[in-house]
Amino acid sequence: MINQRYAKITGWGKYVPARVLTNDDLAKMVDTSDEWITTRTGIKERRIRTENDTTSSMAVAASREALKVAGLSPKDLDLIIVATSSPDYLLPSVASQVQDMLGAQCGAFTLVAGCSGWVYALTAASQYIVSGAYNRILVVGVEIISFALDFTDRTTCVLFGDAAAATVVEASDEPGGLLSFELGSDGSGAMFLYVPDGGSTSPMSQRTIDERRHYLRMDGPEVFKFAVRTLASSLKRVIYQAGLTPDDIDLFIPHQANARIIEAAARQMRVPLDKFYINLDRYGNTSAASVPLAMVEAFEEGRLKDGDLVAMCAFGAGLTWASAVVQVGAGEISAAHSLFSVGRARFLARRASDAVLDTAQSALLPLYTFLYQRRRKK
Ligand code: ACO
Repeated sequence: MINQRYAKITGWGKYVPARVLTNDDLAKMVDTSDEWITTRTGIKERRIRTENDTTSSMAVAASREALKVAGLSPKDLDLIIVATSSPDYLLPSVASQVQDMLGAQCGAFTLVAGCSGWVYALTAASQYIVSGAYNRILVVGVEIISFALDFTDRTTCVLFGDAAAATVVEASDEPGGLLSFELGSDGSGAMFLYVPDGGSTSPMSQRTIDERRHYLRMDGPEVFKFAVRTLASSLKRVIYQAGLTPDDIDLFIPHQANARIIEAAARQMRVPLDKFYINLDRYGNTSAASVPLAMVEAFEEGRLKDGDLVAMCAFGAGLTWASAVVQVGAGEISAAHSLFSVGRARFLARRASDAVLDTAQSALLPLYTFLYQRRRKK
């Protein structure tokens, strides 16, 4: 008999560039103010890459820390997944540079899903582990998003920052790790957050540069509505799917885009805001690095400990979203959080009632068809 395998986060690390860009600094560059940025977003400052920072070097620095926490060497790794929208080059894949710089001997690939990238990558890594294919995977979220920012556009340049965070995911026979997840995509919203030119549809040219079309553009209010709609509902779905209730969750780690989006989600879920981890005041939106960076800092500040239950949700360009419930560390899931929780009972009850409705509808279908055809004949 094959033993059930679980994918656990056993190592974490971060790297943030030394250069700090405050709201007051930005107010000297564009028509904005610390007051506007703070009240509309909650952001006070963000990190911007120095001339020594590249996407690969930042990913490697965070990865070395994560490997140290996990007690592993790069040679122990079976796979590296790097989530980013800002690789060093269009080609080759930045994950291969990270593999080489670390001295790892394994496969590596880059995953693009906007700000949701790291949560997507975590769920992918978990599947390789649960299936038995691999035992130790490095999952990195890294972004030098500042390279795509137009520092003459106040509607976007105040929101983002650069950072890297890495996690090690390992196989275990003890229950825990990734308990549930949801991946979402709505490509019809692609143009709400995109870089118009520089891809294969419209390669970079003097015209695209003159018109500043190689920079990120965003319809802020549309993305805001999408985020508010998605955050609470997706979190609730993954929590119930894991057989838990919001009360069971020790810490919520939302994508760090805007404090108002997080406050709206907390209200909708009737969860106290202090159960939501927030560090966007110091880093802004670091895209694919946002959720793992928040998780690393939650560990560093003692807000998270081995065995805690975390519900996370990221959303962004695509449009995409990704949520997961994870029991962090090597600890085993407690009985209170497993079979007999109220959340699981509710989940099972809802699934049962859905099944009854489906069966009833299927059974009644021939009758509906008969009545419909009779009406048409009349
Ligand atoms: N400073 C001063 N005024 C500004 C600024 C600024 N930095 N930016 C916009 N304004 C002005 C606008 O021009 C507008 O002025 P007007 O009324 O004269 O036209 C006014 O402020 C209001 O603008 P809105 O866009 O309606 O402001 P809103 O309250 O919606 O906040 C914001 C804008 C912060 C961008 C918000 O919409 C938001 O957070 N959206 C979501 C962004 C997000 O989550 N992105 C995630 C992307 S993740 C990824 O994958 C990369």
